[in-house]
Amino acid sequence: MKRAIKVSKLFDGYEYKDDMIVVFDNKIESITPADSFSQDIEIEDFSNEYILYPGFINTHTHLEFATNRTTLKYGNFVEWLYSVIEHRGDLMNEADDEAMMKCCKEMLNSGITTFGAISSMGLDLQVCKKTPQKVVYFNEAIGSVPSAVDALFSDFKERVTNSKCTTPKDKITPAIAIHSPYSVHPILAKRVIEIAKDLNMPISTHFLESKAERDWLENSSGEMAPFFKEFFNTDRAVNNIQGFLELFDDTQTLFIHCTQATQEELQYLQNKGHTIAHCPRSNRLLGNGRLSIENIFSPLSVATDGYSSNWSLNIFDELRASLMMHSLGDLNKLAFRLIRSVTSDAAKCLRSDAGVLNINRPADMVLVKLPSKIPNDSVALHTILHTQKAERVWIDGEVIN
Ligand code: BEZ
Ligand code: FE2
Repeated sequence: MKRAIKVSKLFDGYEYKDDMIVVFDNKIESITPADSFSQDIEIEDFSNEYILYPGFINTHTHLEFATNRTTLKYGNFVEWLYSVIEHRGDLMNEADDEAMMKCCKEMLNSGITTFGAISSMGLDLQVCKKTPQKVVYFNEAIGSVPSAVDALFSDFKERVTNSKCTTPKDKITPAIAIHSPYSVHPILAKRVIEIAKDLNMPISTHFLESKAERDWLENSSGEMAPFFKEFFNTDRAVNNIQGFLELFDDTQTLFIHCTQATQEELQYLQNKGHTIAHCPRSNRLLGNGRLSIENIFSPLSVATDGYSSNWSLNIFDELRASLMMHSLGDLNKLAFRLIRSVTSDAAKCLRSDAGVLNINRPADMVLVKLPSKIPNDSVALHTILHTQKAERVWIDGEVIN
């Protein structure tokens, strides 16, 4: 059903505009300055301190780790990895539909209408089908041992097929993820990337998250060496950094973290048209340092990662952490960039048509309420500082929350 709302401010994905009327059904039909609007339609009025945003997009989370709170060890990446290997089975058993749905609801409360779910086992598929949000469902491939590649690939293909199931509104986009350069054999990575290319699927990979990963990939040494000796009886990395990067040369990929990438590596992947997901709280908790976002000119998305390395999936908690972590430079400009990083830039990372308010785009919208009316030069900052939850959420034009 066609509806109209009036807002005293909206962010269209690129800029703030004052006093607009948005007409929408499942898609946005028009966005018109209130003083020149002439359609005969009932208008719901959200003037004063309300601001309309495109539904927020969280490009990277792991629902299968929904129940972790204090089990995994924080502070050092390799110690965390040991704890993941030790507790992964138990955590995945605990993560029932109810626990994973709670994560979706938590995201929805903060205004997230689309998210990217990394699925290691396919345990989260039913929840992703049920949740009202749109999901880019990244079937993950992992495995560095050559003799296991065939079995892992066939399990992977089955999960991809399952995720291609058509839900009523096709709200799950099947996608693929390569776990990381240290954990995926290049033969497996190549096969998986071929599938993504053939089926034109979004693709993502964790990349250069820790110093230990860098040392391992560069010299097969450092803190990861005893880990690989103990669990895989190997003393050699299966990929080097440049070789791994080149696997993705002709398919736009979302690179997650990149905290330990050099300026040259960041330059390389951006020149190839790739995008980057930034998870500041995860990076801090696993001892991985700060992503130098000053060196990033491609679309950058701020994302929560999962409960495996975070204490909430509220996108505003993540934006506030970003604001604190990147303490150099102009505060209001950073805040503006961060708002884009969960709207129009995040949409580019997921190849989604959401993330902007424009004619013919999906009516995925979020209403945020601020303590008072705020001028456009500081509204991004105050949105980040003061928002705990969305006041109202629409997905495809329907009120969801
Ligand atoms: C593997 O399956 O080869 C792997 C998994 C986690 C970390 C490293 C390697
Ligand atoms: Fe992750």
